[in-house]
Amino acid sequence: MTTSRERALGSDAVRIEGLAKVSGTARYSAEHTPPGCLYAWPVPATVARGRIASFDTAAALAEPGAVAVLTHENAPRISDPEDAILGVLRDDRVPHRGWIVAVAVAETLEAARATADAVRVSYVAEDHDVVLTADHPGLYSPEMANGGHPGTRERGDFDTVYAAAPVTVDVTYSMDPMHNHPMEPHAAVAHWHDGRLTVYDSSQGSSTVRDALAALFALDPAHVTVISEHVGGGFGSKGTPRPQPVLAAMAARHVGRPVKLVLHRSQLPAVVGHRPPTIQRVRFGADRDGVISALAHEMVSYTSTVKEFVEQAATPARTMYTSPHSRTVHRVTALDVPTPSWMRAPGEASGMYALESAMDELALAAGVDPVELRVRNEPSHEPDSGRAYSSRHLVECLREGARRFGWGDRDPRAGLRKEGRFLVGSGVAAASYPVLISPSTAEARADADGGFLVRVNATDIGTGARTVLAQIGADALQAPLERVRIEIGDSDLPRAPLAGGSSGTGSWGWSVDKACRALRARIDAAGGTVPPEGLSASGDTTEEVGAGTEFARHAYGAHFAEVQVDTDTAEIRVRRMLAVFAAGRILNPRTARSQFIGAMTMGLGMALMEGATIDPVAGDFAERDLASYHVPAHADVRSMEAYWIEEDDRHLNPMGSKGIGEIGMVGSAAAIGNAVRHATGVRLREVPMRPDKLL
Ligand code: MOS
Repeated sequence: MTTSRERALGSDAVRIEGLAKVSGTARYSAEHTPPGCLYAWPVPATVARGRIASFDTAAALAEPGAVAVLTHENAPRISDPEDAILGVLRDDRVPHRGWIVAVAVAETLEAARATADAVRVSYVAEDHDVVLTADHPGLYSPEMANGGHPGTRERGDFDTVYAAAPVTVDVTYSMDPMHNHPMEPHAAVAHWHDGRLTVYDSSQGSSTVRDALAALFALDPAHVTVISEHVGGGFGSKGTPRPQPVLAAMAARHVGRPVKLVLHRSQLPAVVGHRPPTIQRVRFGADRDGVISALAHEMVSYTSTVKEFVEQAATPARTMYTSPHSRTVHRVTALDVPTPSWMRAPGEASGMYALESAMDELALAAGVDPVELRVRNEPSHEPDSGRAYSSRHLVECLREGARRFGWGDRDPRAGLRKEGRFLVGSGVAAASYPVLISPSTAEARADADGGFLVRVNATDIGTGARTVLAQIGADALQAPLERVRIEIGDSDLPRAPLAGGSSGTGSWGWSVDKACRALRARIDAAGGTVPPEGLSASGDTTEEVGAGTEFARHAYGAHFAEVQVDTDTAEIRVRRMLAVFAAGRILNPRTARSQFIGAMTMGLGMALMEGATIDPVAGDFAERDLASYHVPAHADVRSMEAYWIEEDDRHLNPMGSKGIGEIGMVGSAAAIGNAVRHATGVRLREVPMRPDKLL
């Protein structure tokens, strides 16, 4: 039998669910309406800190179609949540503005909204503090940053070496809070029936949501089903269970009918997490050739009073460049703000913005070309851990990107390239994202008619996961792709981790590969034929996924950007973005390219548009819709190219892949900022780089 490795895996297969999506037959969570379904609308707190004194629900319950108003006084009791953001309708505390204090339930969506609007809540407001400053008195050094990274790391003697260095850079970058804003808002439909709970939830991982609901409602997990069949984006905001399935399940239990709860977009910023603002100081001590001897990256950010979340922005500095003497520090203060959380490449996206912008400043200070500077600081081993890299092709990405972009023709002097009223410039930045992996389980079945079924509770949040997993299955089964059916997005399927940390394909795919190889062996043992009752096999990678962790494993990339700056209006436009990535084996070039350019577009948004402001008086975000929170539109995205270098890395997983979901965003904002400086001679140390900051 010929191997189908060349056929299925690595081919540019089109999305299995593509037709269903573009023809409107793919159903998202909110599109499920069980018979008798009611609608719920949350009531957000209007004070930034305090206690609920009382509710007046008389007018609300008099609204046509009103069925109930749930508050902490009458809602079904839930257990102590493992994640404090799920502790809704439990007590009278208001930890931040926008915290959900009540839920209205009614016969229609419109009636639910009117009912919610008519709920009167009296608060005992307390003084609040929502303003992050670099010297906030509440700042402390947490033990851990997000992802289990140590809060602080010291290597060598930074202070002494920095003080003696012939070339130094000491710069501080800041960024505003950013919101995930997936196209599909968070939504849940909950249905209690026959002692069981079924929930359609817009989630990046329904096994986790199932476990959370089972714990909160004291149910056997086997009696809870959470379905996330199609998900319209998440970017981390759906990576952990969010309040909507909890509230929908509470409401459904209270009224004895199914309940649908869709968060309004204006409610997302306070409820589903956000990238917290950061103030990042980067210091380099280097020799006259730009080789770094001392590196300090110190971040200040906030968390909420609900739970601690620490954006791990200083962690890339631990792995990127030669740095014999290093200090990397995270400090946070707990403010009365909505709880920050994961937003695409948490830590790397924010941290590499500062680090890669500062590298550009070091290149200038040392008089070294920015591409060459990065090549000179290429480490032989991962600086912080001392581990060897499983594969690292950053230099190749930089060289290949420079060649494709035409970097060699660039005059390094700033502010010289004028085209009419535009100043034009170009910039470069590196990208890096760790290889993360989690245990997963999968099942594969062969039918006598020659068809195969692969089952795994993966989630396709728009990435093409379904398709790539079918390709992995077909490859392992040595079967044509069209013979392989795949079921994902249901917690009754074999347990699997979330779509997050760019780990989905590696984690799920490994278990699919294992199950399908086992099934192939069974078919071969049966003489190559499948008996009438079929054959099946399962794969659990709990034992395997630790392999390879003796190596430092990261994907790398290099971003190149060309910008024009309008000398009349200071408007910045990105003319070209080009990136080259090294991310192991690319399993599907079509979906991979889509991931890369999607993330690069988010980087463009981060650089130029995306940023929220917290109103210090009201205590909540001022921008709560897509009219005020700007993301790139088609006209903002001109030429965008993504390329990759194929890596043959045997220390990853059977497919040889690294994650590709997040790396496209990492460093892209820095490349744009560096291009703005090249165009204008002005260094902006803040994103988003709106015209008012450049004028
Ligand atoms: Mo991503 S922020 O890990 O969903």
